[in-house]
Amino acid sequence: MMMHNFDSSPDRKGTSSVKWDLTKTVFGRDDVLPMWVADMDFPPPPEVLDALHKRIEHGIFGYTYTGDSLGKAVCSWMKERHNWEIKESSLLYSSGIVPAIATIIKAFTEKGDGILMHSPVYTPFFSLAESNGRIPIKAPLVIKEGQFTVDFHAFEEALKHGVKLFLLCSPHNPGGRVWTQEELLKMAELCKKYNVLIISDEIHADLVHKPHTHIPIASLKKEIEDITLTLAAPSKTFNIAGLQASVMIIPNKELQEKVAEEHQKQGIFTLNTFGVVGMEAAYLHGGDWLDSLMSYLADNIEEVKTFVKAELPELSVMEPEATYLLWIDFRDTGKTETELQDLLLNKGKLALEPGSKFGEDGEGFFRMNIACTRETLRDGLERMKKALS
Ligand SMILES: Cc1ncc(COP(=O)(O)O)c(C=O)c1O
Repeated sequence: MMMHNFDSSPDRKGTSSVKWDLTKTVFGRDDVLPMWVADMDFPPPPEVLDALHKRIEHGIFGYTYTGDSLGKAVCSWMKERHNWEIKESSLLYSSGIVPAIATIIKAFTEKGDGILMHSPVYTPFFSLAESNGRIPIKAPLVIKEGQFTVDFHAFEEALKHGVKLFLLCSPHNPGGRVWTQEELLKMAELCKKYNVLIISDEIHADLVHKPHTHIPIASLKKEIEDITLTLAAPSKTFNIAGLQASVMIIPNKELQEKVAEEHQKQGIFTLNTFGVVGMEAAYLHGGDWLDSLMSYLADNIEEVKTFVKAELPELSVMEPEATYLLWIDFRDTGKTETELQDLLLNKGKLALEPGSKFGEDGEGFFRMNIACTRETLRDGLERMKKALS
């Protein structure tokens, strides 16, 4: 494996970066170190940059379509990385996972229908259901032996309340769980029993730490594939969220047609030129860079765990099986979330995501984004220590 250098990062301030340029709007201060929104401080794989440069040099950016070569790149990535055999004919593209979820909600549910999701979970799961007039039905996750696990009794009870869709976050954000085959099978079989479709948001699937393996839920069985719409993207994996390109994998033709119909209603028909070029180059050539990134992230995670153990023993870090997001338990500090946020922002000058943003079950936790240089990470840890001193 060729090692890439993640120890330096260009200054992101002044680039319309949500993470770096919006802290004043979101947190009320522009002098905080941003370790919140989920993107990385690293440039994408050099092959992605080369492909984009080449495309810019061409100089014409007319209407672009999502052709065969892109489809082949997606399918070969899924086969190589996730041992999942899919056909190009099962793909539909979207400018992002969030817009894809919104489209699917509109295509398969009516106002007042229930949408099941775990809690805590990625915030837009709740807000997309609510803003579309659907009811988010929460099945709280429970922490067992330091990890989030599914409470299958609560999960089945929730399925009985007018639920049409189950929105699965796999791997899980904010907890970093990589669901096991057994857990996935159990969730899928319950969805089947209650006639509920599964939207599986697998945006973090490539960011899995050893020795864990991500299993696409649709790859488990034909009957599960038939009720599942899987959402994947190169955006988190290769740090190209700004290119706005993601892919839906929908082998069931009937379901796929309904989504395509919804796209047509919204006037959506393709991706932007750079999204197409970036996605194809990333899936074709980004594997080596990704392996190198995962090793850097693993070292960052170790650094946080060691620091917290030595300097901040009242905190505890949930061991992430995937993602570059750390879910940190602050409950033993005895302080409320408001008090902690005040200390983190105004004393430590550090911007983390407060846990309650991911559902009320997240209260007492903060989510820290560690996809940054080791130097920035150490700065963030010192700020956290200062905040709590
Ligand atoms: C679980 C999950 N889904 C979706 C997204 C965002 O996807 P997109 O930018 O493609 O809309 C994120 C970003 O943090 C995420 O964590």
